[in-house]
Amino acid sequence: TKKITIAIDGFSSTGKSTVAKQLAKELGYVYVDTGAMYRAVTLYALRKKYISEINFDTAALINDLPIIKLKFIFNPEVGFGEMYLNDEKVEKEIRQMEVSQYVSKVAAVPQVREMLVAQQQEMGREKGIVMDGRDIGTVVFPDAELKIFMTASAQERAQRRYKELSERGEEVTYKEVLENVEGRDLLDTTRKDSPLVKAEDAKEIDNSHLTLAGQFERILELYHEAI
Ligand code: C5P
Repeated sequence: TKKITIAIDGFSSTGKSTVAKQLAKELGYVYVDTGAMYRAVTLYALRKKYISEINFDTAALINDLPIIKLKFIFNPEVGFGEMYLNDEKVEKEIRQMEVSQYVSKVAAVPQVREMLVAQQQEMGREKGIVMDGRDIGTVVFPDAELKIFMTASAQERAQRRYKELSERGEEVTYKEVLENVEGRDLLDTTRKDSPLVKAEDAKEIDNSHLTLAGQFERILELYHEAI
Protein backbone atom coordinates (compact mmCIF):
# COMPACT_ATOMS: atom_id res chain seq x y z
CA THR A 1 0.00 0.00 0.00
CA LYS A 2 1.09 3.54 -0.63
CA LYS A 3 2.40 5.60 2.24
CA ILE A 4 0.55 8.76 3.13
CA THR A 5 0.91 11.74 5.44
CA ILE A 6 -1.37 11.85 8.47
CA ALA A 7 -1.87 15.15 10.31
CA ILE A 8 -3.47 15.12 13.75
CA ASP A 9 -4.28 18.51 15.22
CA GLY A 10 -6.30 19.72 18.14
CA PHE A 11 -6.39 21.36 21.53
CA SER A 12 -3.99 20.40 24.29
CA SER A 13 -4.54 17.14 26.15
CA THR A 14 -7.09 15.72 23.72
CA GLY A 15 -5.09 12.51 23.65
CA LYS A 16 -3.70 13.28 20.20
CA SER A 17 -0.35 11.73 20.96
CA THR A 18 -1.85 8.52 22.32
CA VAL A 19 -3.83 7.80 19.15
CA ALA A 20 -1.08 9.13 16.90
CA LYS A 21 1.44 6.72 18.43
CA GLN A 22 -1.00 3.84 18.24
CA LEU A 23 -1.75 4.60 14.61
CA ALA A 24 1.92 4.93 13.67
CA LYS A 25 2.65 1.59 15.29
CA GLU A 26 -0.26 -0.09 13.52
CA LEU A 27 0.80 1.25 10.12
CA GLY A 28 4.56 1.03 10.60
CA TYR A 29 4.81 4.79 10.20
CA VAL A 30 7.09 7.30 11.89
CA TYR A 31 5.45 9.28 14.70
CA VAL A 32 6.43 12.88 15.34
CA ASP A 33 5.24 14.85 18.35
CA THR A 34 5.70 18.48 17.28
CA GLY A 35 4.59 19.73 20.71
CA ALA A 36 7.79 18.16 22.07
CA MET A 37 9.82 20.40 19.76
CA TYR A 38 8.09 23.59 20.99
CA ARG A 39 8.51 22.30 24.53
CA ALA A 40 12.25 21.67 24.05
CA VAL A 41 12.79 25.22 22.77
CA THR A 42 10.83 26.46 25.80
CA LEU A 43 13.00 24.41 28.14
CA TYR A 44 16.05 25.97 26.54
CA ALA A 45 14.62 29.48 27.01
CA LEU A 46 13.76 28.75 30.66
CA ARG A 47 17.23 27.44 31.43
CA LYS A 48 18.80 30.49 29.84
CA LYS A 49 16.36 32.67 31.79
CA TYR A 50 15.15 34.25 28.56
CA ILE A 51 11.61 33.71 29.75
CA SER A 52 10.11 34.03 33.22
CA GLU A 53 6.98 35.31 34.87
CA ILE A 54 8.10 38.89 34.37
CA ASN A 55 9.98 38.94 31.07
CA PHE A 56 10.43 37.32 27.70
CA ASP A 57 13.58 38.26 25.85
CA THR A 58 12.47 37.13 22.41
CA ALA A 59 15.50 38.75 20.74
CA ALA A 60 17.90 36.62 22.80
CA LEU A 61 15.96 33.46 21.99
CA ILE A 62 15.81 34.27 18.28
CA ASN A 63 19.54 34.93 18.33
CA ASP A 64 20.18 31.49 19.82
CA LEU A 65 17.91 29.55 17.43
CA PRO A 66 20.80 28.45 15.18
CA ILE A 67 22.47 26.73 18.15
CA ILE A 68 19.38 24.93 19.40
CA LYS A 69 19.66 21.39 18.03
CA LEU A 70 16.60 19.20 18.27
CA LYS A 71 16.56 15.52 17.51
CA PHE A 72 14.22 12.60 17.96
CA ILE A 73 16.05 9.38 18.72
CA PHE A 74 14.08 6.17 18.43
CA ASN A 75 13.97 4.20 21.66
CA PRO A 76 12.94 0.62 20.90
CA GLU A 77 12.01 0.09 24.54
CA VAL A 78 9.23 2.66 24.37
CA GLY A 79 8.56 2.28 20.66
CA PHE A 80 8.93 5.90 19.56
CA GLY A 81 11.40 8.72 19.19
CA GLU A 82 12.45 10.61 22.29
CA MET A 83 13.28 14.30 22.33
CA TYR A 84 16.90 15.43 22.59
CA LEU A 85 17.93 19.03 23.09
CA ASN A 86 21.57 19.61 22.17
CA ASP A 87 22.30 15.91 22.67
CA GLU A 88 20.65 15.70 26.08
CA LYS A 89 17.55 13.60 26.48
CA VAL A 90 14.83 15.93 27.77
CA GLU A 91 11.75 13.73 27.37
CA LYS A 92 10.87 14.07 31.08
CA GLU A 93 11.86 17.70 31.56
CA ILE A 94 9.70 18.98 28.70
CA ARG A 95 6.53 17.47 30.20
CA GLN A 96 6.85 19.41 33.44
CA MET A 97 4.23 21.95 34.39
CA GLU A 98 6.71 24.83 34.20
CA VAL A 99 7.33 24.17 30.52
CA SER A 100 3.59 23.86 29.89
CA GLN A 101 3.12 27.27 31.43
CA TYR A 102 5.41 29.02 28.96
CA VAL A 103 5.29 26.93 25.83
CA SER A 104 2.42 28.75 24.13
CA LYS A 105 4.30 32.04 24.45
CA VAL A 106 7.40 30.57 22.87
CA ALA A 107 5.28 28.91 20.17
CA ALA A 108 3.84 32.30 19.24
CA VAL A 109 7.24 33.60 18.09
CA PRO A 110 7.23 33.49 14.27
CA GLN A 111 10.97 32.72 13.98
CA VAL A 112 10.57 29.73 16.30
CA ARG A 113 7.68 28.43 14.19
CA GLU A 114 9.57 29.00 10.97
CA MET A 115 12.51 26.91 12.16
CA LEU A 116 10.42 24.07 13.58
CA VAL A 117 8.02 23.91 10.63
CA ALA A 118 10.98 23.57 8.23
CA GLN A 119 12.37 20.69 10.31
CA GLN A 120 8.96 19.01 10.44
CA GLN A 121 8.51 19.26 6.68
CA GLU A 122 11.93 17.69 6.23
CA MET A 123 10.98 14.79 8.53
CA GLY A 124 7.84 14.15 6.49
CA ARG A 125 9.42 14.37 3.06
CA GLU A 126 9.11 10.66 2.39
CA LYS A 127 5.58 10.30 3.82
CA GLY A 128 4.68 7.34 6.00
CA ILE A 129 4.39 9.74 8.89
CA VAL A 130 1.89 10.54 11.63
CA MET A 131 2.50 14.01 13.00
CA ASP A 132 0.55 15.64 15.78
CA GLY A 133 0.37 19.29 16.77
CA ARG A 134 -1.67 22.42 16.16
CA ASP A 135 -0.86 23.50 12.60
CA ILE A 136 0.07 20.25 10.88
CA GLY A 137 -2.96 20.07 8.56
CA THR A 138 -3.02 23.80 7.95
CA VAL A 139 0.63 24.87 7.66
CA VAL A 140 3.13 22.01 7.85
CA PHE A 141 1.37 19.56 5.51
CA PRO A 142 -1.59 21.30 3.87
CA ASP A 143 -1.59 18.44 1.32
CA ALA A 144 -1.78 15.63 3.90
CA GLU A 145 -4.02 12.83 2.64
CA LEU A 146 -5.60 12.42 6.07
CA LYS A 147 -6.26 15.22 8.53
CA ILE A 148 -7.84 14.67 11.89
CA PHE A 149 -8.95 17.38 14.29
CA MET A 150 -9.42 16.19 17.85
CA THR A 151 -11.56 17.94 20.41
CA ALA A 152 -12.86 17.29 23.92
CA SER A 153 -14.21 19.56 26.62
CA ALA A 154 -11.66 21.55 28.63
CA GLN A 155 -12.85 19.85 31.84
CA GLU A 156 -12.40 16.41 30.39
CA ARG A 157 -8.94 17.27 29.11
CA ALA A 158 -7.87 18.87 32.40
CA GLN A 159 -9.09 15.81 34.29
CA ARG A 160 -6.97 13.48 32.13
CA ARG A 161 -3.92 15.69 32.35
CA TYR A 162 -4.30 16.11 36.09
CA LYS A 163 -4.40 12.36 36.53
CA GLU A 164 -1.31 11.94 34.37
CA LEU A 165 0.70 14.59 36.23
CA SER A 166 -0.35 13.36 39.68
CA GLU A 167 0.58 9.79 38.79
CA ARG A 168 3.99 11.09 37.81
CA GLY A 169 4.31 12.69 41.24
CA GLU A 170 3.96 16.32 40.19
CA GLU A 171 2.31 18.47 42.81
CA VAL A 172 -0.47 20.22 40.97
CA THR A 173 -4.12 20.86 41.62
CA TYR A 174 -6.95 20.17 39.17
CA LYS A 175 -7.67 23.89 39.14
CA GLU A 176 -4.12 24.76 38.07
CA VAL A 177 -4.24 22.20 35.29
CA LEU A 178 -7.64 23.44 34.07
CA GLU A 179 -6.34 27.00 34.04
CA ASN A 180 -3.28 25.91 32.09
CA VAL A 181 -5.38 24.01 29.55
CA GLU A 182 -7.76 26.96 29.08
CA GLY A 183 -4.89 29.44 28.96
CA ARG A 184 -3.11 27.47 26.26
CA ASP A 185 -6.33 27.06 24.26
CA LEU A 186 -6.73 30.82 24.28
CA LEU A 187 -3.13 31.59 23.30
CA ASP A 188 -3.07 28.83 20.67
CA THR A 189 -6.28 29.95 18.98
CA THR A 190 -5.63 33.69 19.07
CA ARG A 191 -1.96 33.98 18.12
CA LYS A 192 -1.24 35.82 14.88
CA ASP A 193 1.07 33.25 13.32
CA SER A 194 -0.59 29.89 12.50
CA PRO A 195 -3.37 29.91 15.08
CA LEU A 196 -4.97 26.60 15.94
CA VAL A 197 -7.89 26.11 13.55
CA LYS A 198 -9.47 23.07 12.03
CA ALA A 199 -8.36 22.66 8.42
CA GLU A 200 -11.36 22.78 6.09
CA ASP A 201 -10.77 19.22 4.98
CA ALA A 202 -10.02 17.80 8.44
CA LYS A 203 -12.28 15.18 10.02
CA GLU A 204 -13.31 16.17 13.52
CA ILE A 205 -13.37 13.67 16.35
CA ASP A 206 -14.82 14.74 19.70
CA ASN A 207 -13.55 12.15 22.13
CA SER A 208 -15.16 13.47 25.33
CA HIS A 209 -17.30 10.36 25.41
CA LEU A 210 -15.23 7.92 23.37
CA THR A 211 -13.11 5.12 24.76
CA LEU A 212 -9.57 4.82 23.45
CA ALA A 213 -10.61 1.74 21.50
CA GLY A 214 -13.66 3.48 20.02
CA GLN A 215 -11.58 6.43 19.02
CA PHE A 216 -8.92 4.27 17.41
CA GLU A 217 -11.52 2.34 15.46
CA ARG A 218 -12.88 5.59 14.07
CA ILE A 219 -9.42 6.74 13.05
CA LEU A 220 -8.65 3.46 11.30
CA GLU A 221 -11.90 3.84 9.36
CA LEU A 222 -10.85 7.31 8.28
CA TYR A 223 -7.43 5.98 7.27
CA HIS A 224 -9.00 3.34 5.05
CA GLU A 225 -11.20 5.96 3.43
CA ALA A 226 -8.15 8.13 2.79
CA ILE A 227 -5.95 5.60 1.01
O1 C5P B 1 1.01 19.12 22.03
P1 C5P B 1 1.51 19.83 23.27
O2 C5P B 1 0.41 20.14 24.24
O3 C5P B 1 2.67 19.15 23.89
O4 C5P B 1 2.06 21.22 22.71
C1 C5P B 1 2.55 22.20 23.60
C2 C5P B 1 2.32 23.59 23.02
O5 C5P B 1 3.15 23.78 21.88
C3 C5P B 1 0.92 23.90 22.55
O6 C5P B 1 0.08 24.38 23.58
C4 C5P B 1 1.17 24.98 21.50
O7 C5P B 1 1.31 26.24 22.12
C5 C5P B 1 2.52 24.60 20.92
N1 C5P B 1 2.44 23.89 19.64
C6 C5P B 1 2.26 24.62 18.50
N2 C5P B 1 2.26 24.01 17.28
C7 C5P B 1 2.40 22.69 17.18
C8 C5P B 1 2.56 21.89 18.34
C9 C5P B 1 2.55 22.53 19.57
O8 C5P B 1 2.12 25.84 18.56
N3 C5P B 1 2.42 22.12 15.98
